[in-house]
Amino acid sequence: MDWEEFRQWSEKAANWGADYRASLRDRPVRAKMAPGEISAHIADSPPLTGEAMGDIFKDFEDILVPGMTHWQHPRFFAYFPANAAPVSVVAEYLVSAIAAQCMLWQTSPSATELETKVVDWLRQALGLPETFTGVIQDSASTATLAAVLVMRERALDWQGNKSGLATSKAVRVYSTDQVHTSIDRAIWIAGIGDENLVRIPSGGPSKAMDAKALAAAIERDRAAGLLPAGVIACVGGTSVGACDDIAAVVEVAHAHGLYVHVDAAWAGSAMICPEFRALWQGVEQADSIVFNPHKWLGAQFDCSVQFVREPEALVRTLAIQPEYLRTHGHDGIINYSEWSVPLGRRFRALKLWFLLRYHGLEGLRTMIRNHVSWSRNLAKRLAAEPDFEIVTEPFLSLFSFDHKAPAGVGQEEHTQRLLNAINNDGRIYLTQTRVSGRLVIRFQAGQFEATEADVDTAFDVIVEIARSLSGA
Ligand SMILES: Cc1ncc(COP(=O)(O)O)c(C=O)c1O
Repeated sequence: MDWEEFRQWSEKAANWGADYRASLRDRPVRAKMAPGEISAHIADSPPLTGEAMGDIFKDFEDILVPGMTHWQHPRFFAYFPANAAPVSVVAEYLVSAIAAQCMLWQTSPSATELETKVVDWLRQALGLPETFTGVIQDSASTATLAAVLVMRERALDWQGNKSGLATSKAVRVYSTDQVHTSIDRAIWIAGIGDENLVRIPSGGPSKAMDAKALAAAIERDRAAGLLPAGVIACVGGTSVGACDDIAAVVEVAHAHGLYVHVDAAWAGSAMICPEFRALWQGVEQADSIVFNPHKWLGAQFDCSVQFVREPEALVRTLAIQPEYLRTHGHDGIINYSEWSVPLGRRFRALKLWFLLRYHGLEGLRTMIRNHVSWSRNLAKRLAAEPDFEIVTEPFLSLFSFDHKAPAGVGQEEHTQRLLNAINNDGRIYLTQTRVSGRLVIRFQAGQFEATEADVDTAFDVIVEIARSLSGA
């Protein structure tokens, strides 16, 4: 592709992107496709000779776009958001054009130095003390893996990477059953083993970890010759927003010398609003915290920030310095690839810089406050409707609900049928979870361009479809 053609197609892509985003309200949120329907239209083998760009672009529009679920749709109320504020998309166009690999300071000083600055901006924005520094990881899963590896190495006196785990005491990590599955996977990958991820009972409306039970489990394990290493607490669990009492967890964990990682992948963004910070009170004593600006805050996927109190522990666990990765003649530089599992790194700081500068903290706070208040309002309106039940009250902008099955229909069958009907309708998109074994429907408001009217539409759609299934 010559540069003139590159210019034309880049313009076309930018125009397409603007039209696409502007037209989302007119599209069904979730792709209406059967499995295999897309692949049936894609050639089984690669072309031997190049094809015209016009043909490739046309196939993109005709074959692939209809098979996309629109995560930037203003009525996306499923899972958690993966917001890409338009300004962060513009930054990503630039990153994509420059296409730098930012593994070391010298492989792009701007990327490293901007990362240090914007991570510190976010530290301030979240109200965290100066004792924290941080790094941008690709995902919360990777950040949690890095934290678990640090827990393991600390507990094994930094010998795990060298000697493996075969002859060591069993390393133990503690959490509740409310944490995201990325914690399970980090435990597997770190070689700790699922049996050594100890589930501490949780309870109360926040489904918070029982700190006394945590202390008892650590003491029991020590007495049994096992090696307690760390605790993973959550603020805003994926299922229904479970929230541990971080101060209580940290107190027990630190009294026993354990490392504490806090997963606030979704809820962390809300902490830019001072009034929500009581939810993670005590977090300033944690050792590691992850939150995903690529979820609620609006930074184009992927962008996950891990704050740590002792970056030396992360570097000691993950850094390798073969000659070909050394930067001679510059003392005190940061090579962020030494803070993370992958060596290669994209220039993720740019979209954060664009996002924070364009919207300012006040702009982003307004968005988050709106989502929380619209969601609470929706929960109240649904609770007032006959046959609706709010199963878990809103935690920030997430709650779960159910609708009573008509006579003769099993409750679980009805809930699933209601969810399917809502999603097949296309105006909104919701997902499900289980609360104490019971199937329920989740709702979260968090999409960057959502308005109060979109949440009102959610109310209309949910009530209209529930009534029609009940024959009301
Ligand atoms: C609470 C929580 N932690 C971790 C993750 C994993 O995030 P990522 O996709 O960035 O690995 C999720 C994803 O939704 C989450 O909700």
